[in-house]
Amino acid sequence: MYSSKARITAIGSYVPEKRLTNDDLERLIDTNDEWISKRTGIKERRIAHEDEYTSDIGCKAVWNLMERFEKSVEDVDMIIVCTLTPDFNTPSTAALVQAKLGIKNAGAIDLNAACAGFTYGLHVANGLITAGLHKKILVIGAETLSRITDYEDRTTCIIFGDGGGAVLVEYSENQPSFLSAHVGSAGEKGKNLYVSNLSKQMFEEEIINSGKFVQNGREVYKWAVTTVPKGMESVMEKANLAMSDVDWFIPHSANLRMIESICDKADFSLGKTLYSLVEFGNTSAATIPLSLDKGVLEGKIKNGNKLLLYGFGGGLTHAGLLIDWNIWDKGSETPAL
Ligand code: UT7
Repeated sequence: MYSSKARITAIGSYVPEKRLTNDDLERLIDTNDEWISKRTGIKERRIAHEDEYTSDIGCKAVWNLMERFEKSVEDVDMIIVCTLTPDFNTPSTAALVQAKLGIKNAGAIDLNAACAGFTYGLHVANGLITAGLHKKILVIGAETLSRITDYEDRTTCIIFGDGGGAVLVEYSENQPSFLSAHVGSAGEKGKNLYVSNLSKQMFEEEIINSGKFVQNGREVYKWAVTTVPKGMESVMEKANLAMSDVDWFIPHSANLRMIESICDKADFSLGKTLYSLVEFGNTSAATIPLSLDKGVLEGKIKNGNKLLLYGFGGGLTHAGLLIDWNIWDKGSETPAL
């Protein structure tokens, strides 16, 4: 029996100003807007300023949350930053965020589950709060993927971009957001998407130690479109609900063709699916909070909606969550949690 004592109470997001359009890429590599649009659905991505790191993007998303929801974060007792592009190997990006936000009494950890990072981060936050170990957790999904993208590899560089989103997860006795979860991994397929500057021999075959993304897009694609629909079914079964009870499906925004195929296999309407890839590209751990916040800002996601979030990617890993969305607007009275 799945039980939860945690609730998402606020959200914020941030993307850098600089845009990298399909036309810009056409000037850099042998590609064109028609190919990128047809194969991925992506039109442009945001690129971090040279002085802007993942911790900065994470903080800006939190400031956006604080401003919009009049929330204070000084009593946050845990910060989880989900990222595969930390500022440093150590200190953790979460510790940098803690210092930059001036939070005094919080634990701080980075969580790397690549594009499934944000849903894993929420899963962990829910567990920590439900177990009674923490009361108020910031979960941030933030990336500066432009720093690890090889802009000479046309099959890979066309999808990635930078950005971030943040949510506050708080203790709630009676109104939890978390209804069910399904997580999984396939490490034996990890060689299909990696970034290495350390390992000499991680997999059976030779690996490229470039510090940049190396991706077998087709293999990741095939894995995701078979794994995710089954995972979605499992999330719904565990909650004892049907797919028709879901108001919005928010998958990792990797590629629109993949999302269409997942919806087709799961017999779910693409019209009830939210994604952030058209304007922001694939921002790994940031795609789901960006899509979520876009849905909130556009007035699509409403209190009382059931949201099916599904992250998948590097690892390979995946994590799906069914969320009962109930947050309150700035200035309105927040009912007792
Ligand atoms: O987010 C984390 C996990 N990552 C993913 O989920 C990514 C999943 N995979 C994908 O999104 C897609 O595999 C890509 C968008 C990365 C690539 O699309 P694809 O349809 O799998 O293309 P492909 O690599 O199989 O290449 C098909 C053809 C090739 O030409 P030939 O051999 O058929 O003549 C490529 O050389 O398209 C060519 N091609 C391009 N042409 C123009 C590859 N990249 C480009 C390009 N512009 N940028």
